[in-house]
Amino acid sequence: MKKRFLAAVLAGTMMLSLVGCSGKSESGDNGQSSNTVKTTTLKLAFNQSENHPQYKALSEMSDALYEATNGAYEIEISPNELLGSQKDAFELVQNGTIQMAMVANSIVENVNSDFAVLGLPYAYDSTEHQKKVFTSGILDDIFASTTANKFNVLAAFTAGSRCVYTDKPITTPADLAGYKIRVMEAPTSIAMLNAMGGVATPMAQGEVYTAIQQGIINGGENNEITYADLKHYEVAPYFSYTRHLMIPDLLVINAETLSGMSEENQQILKDLCKEYTEREFELWDEQLDTAIETAKTGGATFTEVDITPFQEAVQPVINDVINKSESAKALYDEIRALAE
Ligand code: GCU
Repeated sequence: MKKRFLAAVLAGTMMLSLVGCSGKSESGDNGQSSNTVKTTTLKLAFNQSENHPQYKALSEMSDALYEATNGAYEIEISPNELLGSQKDAFELVQNGTIQMAMVANSIVENVNSDFAVLGLPYAYDSTEHQKKVFTSGILDDIFASTTANKFNVLAAFTAGSRCVYTDKPITTPADLAGYKIRVMEAPTSIAMLNAMGGVATPMAQGEVYTAIQQGIINGGENNEITYADLKHYEVAPYFSYTRHLMIPDLLVINAETLSGMSEENQQILKDLCKEYTEREFELWDEQLDTAIETAKTGGATFTEVDITPFQEAVQPVINDVINKSESAKALYDEIRALAE
C-alpha cells in the first residue's frame, strides 16, 4: 500500500516535471487571501555560463515574470549546454520537451531564410543602432512568422560584435588565406567567412576550444565576452577587431506554450521581453571591459583593424541574402533606415 502510494507520488512528480509544472503554494498577490497558485516552469536552455549578460538578464526577467503573473510563470534556465548544443535545444523547444531556448540567429535562419537579414555582416553601425532595431517593433512580424514551425521568437538579445581570433593578428583578408576558422552552423556564416578570405568550418560552440587545441581548426570568431568566458584566448591568443558581425541571439518559445498562455500573460511576457532586451544591452556594456581584461591577463592581444577590405569582401554575401525575397530586402532596408 505504502509502496503503491510512493510509486504514484513519484509518477506524479515525473509527469509534473515533464510538463514543466509545479504546484507551489503561494499566498495571493496584493494581500489577497492565500491561494494555491500553480506555477508553470518554463525550462530554458542556454549554451553559455551564469556569468554571461544574457543569463543575468534572463534570470532577472524570470523574477519579473513570476511577480507580474502572480506566480503563474517562472523561467528555469539551464546554462552551459546542459540541455545540449543550441541546435539540439532548439529541436527540444520545437517538439515541446522544453519550452524556451536562447539560440543564435543563425539557427533560426535555417527555418526562415529572412532571419539571415538580422545576422548579415555589417548590418548594424553601432550598439545604439542595434538597440533601436531590436526594440522598435520592426521585428514583430518576423518574430511571429514561425508558428507553423512550432516556435515563436520573443526577443533578440545583443551578442556584441564578432571578431576573428587565431594564432596571429588578422588585418587583411589575405591574412586569413588557408586559415580554418570555426563559424556557426548556417549558410550565411559559412559564406561570410569564406568571402573574408578564410576557410569556414561550421561546428557547435562547445567543441571549439578542443578543436583549436588539437589543430583541427586555426581559430574562431566571436565577441569578447564569449572569447573570455570560454577561455578561447588560451588556444587562440590574437583577437583582431574585424567587427564583421553583430548577430543577435534569439529567445525562442514553443508555439503551443505561448498560445496556451492567457492573453494577459502573453502580453506580460512580450512586454518583459522588450524591457529585458534593453537591460541586456546594459549588462553587456558593463561586462565588456572586464572580459577584455580577463583575456589580456590570460595572454590575449587585441588588434584594431581597418574594416573596409572586409566590408567590401562580404558585400556579395549581403546581396545574395537580400535579393532572395522581397521581404528580405524590405527588412534590410528597414534596419538600415534606423542607422544614424
Ligand atoms: C555567441 C552567441 C551564441 C553562440 C555563440 C557561437 O556566444 O552569443 O549564441 O552560440 O556565439 O559562436 O556559437
